[in-house]
Amino acid sequence: MKGRELVFPVLLAAAATGIGAASLEKEKHHGAHHLLDSPITRNGSTLLLDGKPWKGVGANIYWLGLDENVTPPAGEPYYAPLKASYPTKGRITEAMAVVKAMGGTMIRAHTLGVSTGNPLSVMPAAGQVNERAFDTIDWAVWQARQHGLRLLVPLTDNFDYYHGGKYNFLRWAGFDLTQQRDSSNPLVSSFYTNATVVASFKEYIRVLLTHVNVYSNLTYAEDPTIFAYETGNELTGPVWGDMNVPAAWVREIGAYVKELAPKKLFLDGTYGVNKTHLAVDEVDIFSNHYYPVSISKLRADLDLVVTVNKPYYAGEYGWLGGTSASSDADLASWYKVLEQSPHVMGDTFWSLFGHNVPDCQAFVNHSDGFTMQYGNPAHAAQIRLVRQHFVKTSTGVSISANETLPAVPCPAPV
Ligand SMILES: *[C@@H]1O[C@H](CO)[C@@H](O)[C@H](O)[C@H]1NC(C)=O
Ligand SMILES: *[C@@H]1O[C@H](CO)[C@@H](O)[C@H](O)[C@H]1NC(C)=O
Ligand SMILES: *[C@@H]1O[C@H](CO)[C@@H](O)[C@H](O)[C@H]1NC(C)=O
Ligand SMILES: *[C@@H]1O[C@H](CO)[C@@H](O)[C@H](O)[C@H]1NC(C)=O
Ligand SMILES: *[C@@H]1O[C@H](CO)[C@@H](O)[C@H](O)[C@H]1NC(C)=O
Ligand SMILES: *[C@@H]1O[C@H](CO)[C@@H](O)[C@H](O)[C@H]1NC(C)=O
Repeated sequence: MKGRELVFPVLLAAAATGIGAASLEKEKHHGAHHLLDSPITRNGSTLLLDGKPWKGVGANIYWLGLDENVTPPAGEPYYAPLKASYPTKGRITEAMAVVKAMGGTMIRAHTLGVSTGNPLSVMPAAGQVNERAFDTIDWAVWQARQHGLRLLVPLTDNFDYYHGGKYNFLRWAGFDLTQQRDSSNPLVSSFYTNATVVASFKEYIRVLLTHVNVYSNLTYAEDPTIFAYETGNELTGPVWGDMNVPAAWVREIGAYVKELAPKKLFLDGTYGVNKTHLAVDEVDIFSNHYYPVSISKLRADLDLVVTVNKPYYAGEYGWLGGTSASSDADLASWYKVLEQSPHVMGDTFWSLFGHNVPDCQAFVNHSDGFTMQYGNPAHAAQIRLVRQHFVKTSTGVSISANETLPAVPCPAPV
C-alpha cells in the first residue's frame, strides 16, 4: 500500500505536466520508493540524488505548518492576537500539487521549522511542547514525500513574526527585547553569544528533529524528504544588512544538526553571504534573498561561494522580476544567469498561496505584494515563465513560455 501510494501521485503529476515521461519510466524501473528514501548529498558544488546531479527549484510556502491569513471556523484552534491558525490538510496538498505542476522539485517552508512563542506553536513557551502543532507539519512532510518534492526548513527567524523567531529564545532567557522596539539594540546578538540562549535554541532543535512523523514513522532527522535545515531566515545582528552572525555560532548549530541528523545538508541562513562563514565546514549551501532581483548582486554572491566549491542557492526573490531602480534584470534574464552557472543548486520564489480548501471557491490572499496564486489569470503569464525555468532546470527540457498551464484540481487528490 505504501508503495502504491508513493508511485501514484508521481504518475499523476507527470501526466499533469506532460513532461518527464522518460525520467518517470526510469523512476518506476528504479523504484520511486527507493528514490524517495535516498538523501540528497553534496559533492563539491553539486547536489546529487542517487549519484546524479539534483537541482532544487520551487516555491517558498511559509504557511504550511501554521498560517496567519485565514480565520478558521468557530471551534477550530485560533490565536487571534497573531491571527494564527492551522491550514487545512487540503490546502497543504493543493500547494504540493501546484509546485509539481510547475515543474518544481522543492519547497522552502518556514513554519515546518519556525514554530515558537504562541499557543499554537510547537514550543509555546521554553521547554513546553505542543503535540497538536505537529499535525500540519507531519502532513506537509508526508505530502511532500508523496509528491516527490524535497523540503528546506529554516529553524528560526530574524523577526518577531506570528510563527516566532529569535526573540522568543531571547525573551525566554530573560532578555526584554522585541523586534519592533529593539531590533538595533546590541543585546539582540545575545541570541548567538549567550550560552543560555544558545542552549535553549539547541533544545528546540532537538525536540523538532527527534519528533516521529505519524504518517511515516520517521523522525524529521531521519526523513530524507527534508533535505536540508537552515540556521534561520534572514539572520542579522543589530544593523540591517550587517550579516553579523558569528561564524562560531553557525558552526555550532551546524555541528548539532549533523549530530542529530548526519545525512542532512546544512544551509547558512545569514541574510547575505558573509566571507567569514565560507570556511565553516558544517555549511553545505550558501544563499541570499533578492528584492528585487539583481544580477550584479547575484554574481557577487556567486563569486564568493565559488571560491570554496560549495553550491549557491537563491532562497527568495520577488517573482515579478525587476520592480524598482535597484533592480538590474527582468525575470527571464535573471533565470538565464541562474541556469547557466553550474554552482547554482537552485532557487525558490517568494511566495505561493492556493485556494481556501475545502471550499475551493476563492484564493487565500496575503498582502505583501509577492503572492502568487496558480490559476489566477492575473498571474498566468508570469507563472508560465517561472514554470519554463523550473522545467528547464529540473529536467533540462526547454518548453515554450507560452505553453498552457496544466490544470490542478481543487481539492487536489491525496
Ligand atoms: C565528485 O566531484 C569530482 C570532482 O568534480 C568528480 O571527479 C567526481 O566524479 C564526482 N563524484 C560524483 C559521485 O559525482
Ligand atoms: C546569559 O543570559 C542569562 C539569562 O539572562 C544571564 O543570566 C547570563 O548572565 C548571560 N550570560 C552572559 C555571559 O551574559
Ligand atoms: C508506526 O509504528 C507503530 C509501532 O511499531 C505501528 O503500530 C504503526 O502501524 C506504524 N505506522 C506506520 C504509518 O507505519
Ligand atoms: C560576518 O561575520 C562576522 C562574524 O563571524 C562578523 O564579525 C561580521 O560583522 C559579519 N559581517 C560582515 C560584513 O563581514
Ligand atoms: C481574495 O481576493 C479576491 C480578489 O479581491 C477575492 O475575490 C477573494 O474572495 C479573496 N479571498 C478570500 C478567501 O476572501
Ligand atoms: C508567445 O506569445 C506571444 C504573444 O502572444 C508571441 O508574440 C510569441 O511569438 C509567442 N512565443 C512563442 C515561442 O510561441
